[in-house]
Amino acid sequence: MIKRDKVLKRDVPKHIAFILDGNGRWARRRGRSRAHGHERGAMNIRSIAIEAKELGVEVMSVYAFSTENWKRPQKEVDMLMDLPKRYEKEYDHDNEAFKKKYLADDVRIIFTGRRDRLDNYNLGLMKRIEDATKENEGFTLNICVDYGSKDELVNAAKSMAKKVANKSLNVNAIDEETMASHLYTHPLPPVDLLIRTSGEQRLSNFLLWQNAYAEFYFTKTHWPAFSQKELRKAIVDFQKRNRKYGGLKKG
Ligand code: IPE
Ligand code: IPE
Ligand code: MG
Repeated sequence: MIKRDKVLKRDVPKHIAFILDGNGRWARRRGRSRAHGHERGAMNIRSIAIEAKELGVEVMSVYAFSTENWKRPQKEVDMLMDLPKRYEKEYDHDNEAFKKKYLADDVRIIFTGRRDRLDNYNLGLMKRIEDATKENEGFTLNICVDYGSKDELVNAAKSMAKKVANKSLNVNAIDEETMASHLYTHPLPPVDLLIRTSGEQRLSNFLLWQNAYAEFYFTKTHWPAFSQKELRKAIVDFQKRNRKYGGLKKG
């Protein structure tokens, strides 16, 4: 059991990104529907975000729905797209209660990804959540919905090309900073620790640029079962890594 005091105060990852995988397998093991797995997975995000904040993490990104997840059976896609609505119903569309809950957590919530394929209800809800939490400065929860890293890079290339064409950007001035500033995630810092649950060891098109020097942590635990305790374990593991960034070993 890793208690909170075993996590060092220094070398806390500033930005943790989660590929929250395994909702379906978690549910199947329990003889339940995939929908149940997704519900429990969605509920787990808040608990992990609160612990991450407590430990001194500044940003937590979660991969909730990828640009490739539209390929799943329509029934599953519909179910996933309906999850936010059901979550909001918990508050009976009472905006004040909704606001209070997020404000109490002192978590700023933002959404990252394409905005041209989501329904108006979800777009409106995302905007309401972003507006209601925008003054919260302690911690940012970045929820990636209809997000794909290749799509993000293509989008960045297009917007830079447009600026070059209309002469508001000099092609020779394009550097890594310029590129980063054209990504959906701007101005979030790069990822320090990438955690993928459920045993798979791949990026599945998640934050390719932002993960350039991230440390990876893979666990067999399915996302709905990923606990605050395991988060602490992953951070303790991260704190033992030697990040060299292409240089030489420290000490
Ligand atoms: C992750 O769980 C959530 C999403 C991708 C939306 P999965 O739905 O991928 O669960 P498995 O991989 O089938 O167990
Ligand atoms: C990655 O999980 C996407 C999200 C967690 C939203 P998938 O379950 O879709 O990834 P693959 O298909 O196993 O690579
Ligand atoms: Mg999966």
